[in-house]
Amino acid sequence: MGAWMLPCHSLLTVVPLIAVTASASVNTLPGCPATCGNVSIPYPFGIGTNCSLPGFELSCNDTGNGVQKPFHTNVEFINISLLPAQARIYNQISWQCYNATYADVSYSTWRLNFTRYPFRFSDTDNKFTVVGCDTFAYISGQNQNEMFDGACASGCSKENLKNGSCSGHGCCQTSIPKGINYYDVTFDDDFNNSQVWHFNPCSYAVLAEVDWFDFSTAYITTRELNETNGGRAPVVLDWAIGNETCEVAQRNTTSYACLSKNSKCFNSSNGLGYLCNCSSGYKGNPYLADGCQDIDECTLKDEYPCNGICTNMPGDYLCKCPPGTKGDPKYGTCKLYVSTRHEGRSENCNLQCRPGSHSNVSSSVKMVIGIVTSTSVAFLLLLCIVVSMVHERRKLNRIKEEYFWRHGGRLLLEEIKSKQGLAFKVFTKEELEQATSNFDKSRILGGGSHGTVYKGTLNDGRAVAIKKSKLIDDHQKKEFGKEMVILSQINHKNVVKLLGCCLEVEVPMLVYAFVSNGTLFQLIHDRNRTSHISLDTRLEIAFQSAEALAYLHSSASPPFLHGDVKSSNVLLDDNYNAKVSDFGASMFVPKDETQFATLVQGTCGYLDPEYLHTCQLTDKSDVYSFGVVPLELLTGRKAIYFEGSDEEKSLSSSFLSAMKEDRLLQLLDAHIKNEEDIELIGEDAELARQCLHVRGEDRPTMKEVADDFDRLRKFKQHPFLQHNPKEIESFLWKPSSYFENEISKYYSIEMKASLNIEYRE
Ligand SMILES: *[C@@H]1O[C@H](CO)[C@@H](O)[C@H](O)[C@H]1NC(C)=O
Ligand SMILES: *[C@@H]1O[C@H](CO)[C@@H](O)[C@H](O)[C@H]1NC(C)=O
Ligand SMILES: *[C@@H]1O[C@H](CO)[C@@H](O)[C@H](O)[C@H]1NC(C)=O
Ligand SMILES: *[C@@H]1O[C@H](CO)[C@@H](O)[C@H](O)[C@H]1NC(C)=O
Ligand SMILES: *[C@@H]1O[C@H](CO)[C@@H](O)[C@H](O)[C@H]1NC(C)=O
Ligand SMILES: *[C@@H]1O[C@H](CO)[C@@H](O)[C@H](O)[C@H]1NC(C)=O
Ligand SMILES: *[C@@H]1O[C@H](CO)[C@@H](O)[C@H](O)[C@H]1NC(C)=O
Ligand SMILES: *[C@@H]1O[C@H](CO)[C@@H](O)[C@H](O)[C@H]1NC(C)=O
Ligand SMILES: *[C@@H]1O[C@H](CO)[C@@H](O)[C@H](O)[C@H]1NC(C)=O
Ligand SMILES: *[C@@H]1O[C@H](CO)[C@@H](O)[C@H](O)[C@H]1NC(C)=O
Ligand SMILES: *[C@@H]1O[C@H](CO)[C@@H](O)[C@H](O)[C@H]1NC(C)=O
Ligand SMILES: *[C@@H]1O[C@H](CO)[C@@H](O)[C@H](O)[C@H]1NC(C)=O
Repeated sequence: MGAWMLPCHSLLTVVPLIAVTASASVNTLPGCPATCGNVSIPYPFGIGTNCSLPGFELSCNDTGNGVQKPFHTNVEFINISLLPAQARIYNQISWQCYNATYADVSYSTWRLNFTRYPFRFSDTDNKFTVVGCDTFAYISGQNQNEMFDGACASGCSKENLKNGSCSGHGCCQTSIPKGINYYDVTFDDDFNNSQVWHFNPCSYAVLAEVDWFDFSTAYITTRELNETNGGRAPVVLDWAIGNETCEVAQRNTTSYACLSKNSKCFNSSNGLGYLCNCSSGYKGNPYLADGCQDIDECTLKDEYPCNGICTNMPGDYLCKCPPGTKGDPKYGTCKLYVSTRHEGRSENCNLQCRPGSHSNVSSSVKMVIGIVTSTSVAFLLLLCIVVSMVHERRKLNRIKEEYFWRHGGRLLLEEIKSKQGLAFKVFTKEELEQATSNFDKSRILGGGSHGTVYKGTLNDGRAVAIKKSKLIDDHQKKEFGKEMVILSQINHKNVVKLLGCCLEVEVPMLVYAFVSNGTLFQLIHDRNRTSHISLDTRLEIAFQSAEALAYLHSSASPPFLHGDVKSSNVLLDDNYNAKVSDFGASMFVPKDETQFATLVQGTCGYLDPEYLHTCQLTDKSDVYSFGVVPLELLTGRKAIYFEGSDEEKSLSSSFLSAMKEDRLLQLLDAHIKNEEDIELIGEDAELARQCLHVRGEDRPTMKEVADDFDRLRKFKQHPFLQHNPKEIESFLWKPSSYFENEISKYYSIEMKASLNIEYRE
């Protein structure tokens, strides 16, 4: 190797560089300032008139002491980059404080409105972050055509706070969708630090850069968050040119922004508009006429390796072995060139021409040795490849096997063996890959913070839904097989059937029977579909879901909790039979030693307020969440909904206040508002109200709820019974006094409520 190096090096120094070294790269239009303070301002951004593209104009303001900083309207820019097309700005942190002496709440909330500018919040680099121990904050945003709403709740006790952990205890984070260019924050009135003010007087909420935020317990007890940086947090903006795709923008040559000769266009990945980049082999500012300059690869050996003779070319470089040598000059080495094949052939010829001569004997011996060596080299090579393939395969199998045992596969296999009839299968990774075309994007049915659900088709043609969870913790991995044993025995017509699981992957996957007609959420909130759904069907769905939950609560001891009851976890088949899904969700939530869930699980609008304070999930938490489902069925509204354009409301609290003020009618879905059903609806509402009781112990059990819905639906299906109290009694097993009242004319919802309670006791 050393042999060729010397000539190679001397050659290198002789070869003249073709490209003229690039002039210092320009980043602004002529006559425009390149920096403001320490921040460089690359075009399309610019300071002053005619220095930027429309929307990108910044002003460079003196912030005192001669320190200059760039601003856009009243927002300070921290830095700007062209690729990725991002800018970092300061966002004001919104806060809410409880003043115990005056028993009042003060707050300051902040909004950013970039609807007229080419900026949107990065969905990958930012998170809506909420800090506090009695806090429920909403973020609302807007992109080109829709509103977005999210919320984050955090509760805590003084003891369970942890530095660096933002998972519902004193701190909560949630992501935002793409394309958001407007944002504001509101705090929920019901969570105002009044419960925790003695150690946590203030709550904070802000959309901020994920990497910037690191939760400290001091944020709970002090005002540190409000004091550093003037109570501001960095947030990352994605920017783009215009609102058109590349193809459309290129049609208008006067407005097309990728001005540089060697530049290319690509669509923004976050919202409308396009961006420019220098073509490969060029670098610089693609938005300026001569912005993209050739890269002299020969001077950048680390990025553009060349062990031979390097020649720079426009947009590329040549790397060749010096004459007389051969090899891979870029990633390998050049070796002195010796053609063994040529030698062999000439010897072959010699052999034919002069057979028998002494020299020929030696050369034929050489040839034989040559053939033997080359075949043995080839053989060794082949052997090597085969051995490494076998090794790789073994390694892969070993990994799979390891996962299998680690996830409790042994227990599960034994269980399946011992229960002959158990229709539960342990799937291999390949089977599931085949069923979902390698987890193709087009197969995604849905997803959330817990994981992604894919639609698949098994070899026998059965349609299945495969749930691929995100990471779970080690303790739960060990318990997985055991949990599967319990889950596999759950068998109820209103619970989605678990067909099997796959353990030989890092995070186990679950395989459920596929349910054809979407979720209850989709049914309720699709205007075209709801109008056809009668009160009967609604009651039936409520009854069936309540039955399923009652079954889950009673089928195992301690009760098997659902943990995330909501209308989107109730699936429907073609006959609108309800099937509760995702009942394993609670086990995928990390638990600490004390077995309290450390993550606030569940979904905004359905969360049990008691759970927020105690962090302990109980069967009554499921009852609370379930209580919201009949409300959705009755009102056709979402658990968090909008009134007018931007005022958001929690369905449960508007419902409770409507009940109190006797104006339930206003909230009802017009399709079911019907004179003759009004009493039934009143009872339905009353049942929901009991489920939504603030104190868990005041809520009925799931079994009681199911029984009550059973009664209501039978009532609806057999209205004739109403006129014959005796018959009703035998039919519904209820005390007759109840129904004597039932048929009386002057019967208010409140009276019914008290009756219901009497009956229960
Ligand atoms: C610019 O950076 C230098 C060194 O990092 C720092 O000392 C100086 O204060 C900065 N100036 C401004 C205006 O930010
Ligand atoms: C900006 O450009 C316009 C049109 O090209 C010109 O009329 C105007 O004088 C320029 N303004 C400045 C401050 O250079
Ligand atoms: C910065 O200066 C510009 C022009 O002088 C002014 O319009 C703007 O309000 C200033 N912004 C801030 C945040 O001071
Ligand atoms: C902008 O600032 C952030 C954080 O201070 C830093 O990580 C990043 O590299 C900077 N980007 C540029 C283009 O200067
Ligand atoms: C409560 O408000 C009063 C009046 O605004 C103020 O004097 C007092 O310091 C506040 N208390 C706390 C703990 O902030
Ligand atoms: C604070 O919230 C509680 C409910 O958690 C409510 O009862 C109380 O009225 C609220 N206080 C203020 C001042 O809003
Ligand atoms: C944002 O600003 C635009 C223009 O300044 C305005 O039309 C729009 O109403 C604002 N959006 C909100 C939600 O305030
Ligand atoms: C968290 O870190 C802060 C300092 O950043 C420290 O004061 C506090 O005691 C730490 N809290 C815990 C629970 O370790
Ligand atoms: C945060 O700081 C601002 C001034 O910088 C002050 O007006 C506000 O009262 C502070 N809020 C809290 C919660 O400390
Ligand atoms: C794109 O921007 C132009 C001008 O800024 C505006 O007239 C047009 O309505 C926008 N189109 C869309 C789809 O937002
Ligand atoms: C092209 O863009 C320029 C500048 O924005 C505009 O004045 C012109 O009307 C556009 N032409 C067409 C054909 O859209
Ligand atoms: C930009 O988006 C359009 C429409 O989505 C697509 O047709 C086009 O291929 C994309 N162009 C580039 C360069 O990615």
